[in-house]
Amino acid sequence: MGEMLSVGFNVVGFNWMSSPAATELETIVMDWLGKMLNLPKPFLFSGGGGGVLQGTTCEAILCTVTAARDKVLNKIGRDRIGDLVVYCSDQTHCALKKAAQIAGIHPDNIRALRTRRSDAFGLCTETLRSALADDVSEGLVPLYLCATVGTTSSTAVDPLRGSEHDIWVHVDAAYAGSACICPEFRHFIDGVEGANSFSFNAHKWFFTTLDCCCLWVKEPQHLVNALSTNPEYLRNKATESKKVVDFKDWQIALSRRFRSLKLWMVLRSYGAANLRNFIRSHVNMAELFEELVTKDERFEVVVPRNFAMVCFRLLPPRRPLRQGLRIGDCNRDHQEVARRGDRDRQGVRDPRGGGRSLPDPIRGRRLAHRSATSGRRGWWCRSKPRLCWRSSTYIP
Ligand SMILES: Cc1ncc(COP(=O)(O)O)c(C=O)c1O
Repeated sequence: MGEMLSVGFNVVGFNWMSSPAATELETIVMDWLGKMLNLPKPFLFSGGGGGVLQGTTCEAILCTVTAARDKVLNKIGRDRIGDLVVYCSDQTHCALKKAAQIAGIHPDNIRALRTRRSDAFGLCTETLRSALADDVSEGLVPLYLCATVGTTSSTAVDPLRGSEHDIWVHVDAAYAGSACICPEFRHFIDGVEGANSFSFNAHKWFFTTLDCCCLWVKEPQHLVNALSTNPEYLRNKATESKKVVDFKDWQIALSRRFRSLKLWMVLRSYGAANLRNFIRSHVNMAELFEELVTKDERFEVVVPRNFAMVCFRLLPPRRPLRQGLRIGDCNRDHQEVARRGDRDRQGVRDPRGGGRSLPDPIRGRRLAHRSATSGRRGWWCRSKPRLCWRSSTYIP
């Protein structure tokens, strides 16, 4: 309904003057939502910061990287752009890489720090500290850290506390941020008070239609400095009074949709209590599912569940599948192997139909490829009836 109204009204509220209602509603809704998340006061309009609705997290990250870049370059000189370094983990969404590319960060200066299963794929503070120290000792300038709460692959959570460096910290909680409206999940963003910006996608898990990314910043002035333009045809008294918010200066584009209307509809029609209960019910379902999967010895839960996503996988069978299969180190792709097993039992079919077997060269090529990727020659061999599955430790 909110989406339909917003599209129907076709408000193009690039600045306060063009649509005071859209602008005011956005500031109100962002403060409501910030309070639901228990964001520290400096992120709210009522605390000197503020929130803005972007289309996507990619845009939110690009805007904040740009704000951080200009904040630093204004201090150290524009010609040092080649020295700026951005940090993230190897689990961070590619949104950061894209933002860094667009913002002119040297490709060699994007540090995707290695995570480990023992840290549940969260960023290791020690690894970060040493990367920062190395860069500083080489005369580089740490610019931006993207910490993720709920990574795309496994919903890992990066620690938000503590970098001694003067670096812009952005918290990307695209998926998991919604859960933090529940007091029992709020601890996942503990430490956000030390960050410069925070974003989550209401269009992921907050019952709002795409596109709707909520971004809060502590010091909107840095966004405005980096993103504002004031041509003659946009001049107006409201802007000049400096008492209004012109959201065009907080985003990439000039024109903008009336997104706050749909978020307002979600908040008003469900209410905070119902929204929390929806989230809880999803997490409960995931918890139950995780329990069932854990009890079933055919599966393995790969990383601990944090929210409503369960990462699990099918384990290789412990008994021989069939005669005629030799599998040494094939922990990876056991499904593929099982599938091949089925296909093999049926004979390899010609995709063109007709029930004919594929000619050997095609089969040969496929198997050669598999051998190359498994690093072992001939682990698939029909003619030698040997079979050995090794219990799996491989993480895709
Ligand atoms: C953690 C995380 N960050 C960023 C994104 C990108 O979001 P968007 O498509 O809104 O740019 C995603 C999308 O799945 C995500 O999971």
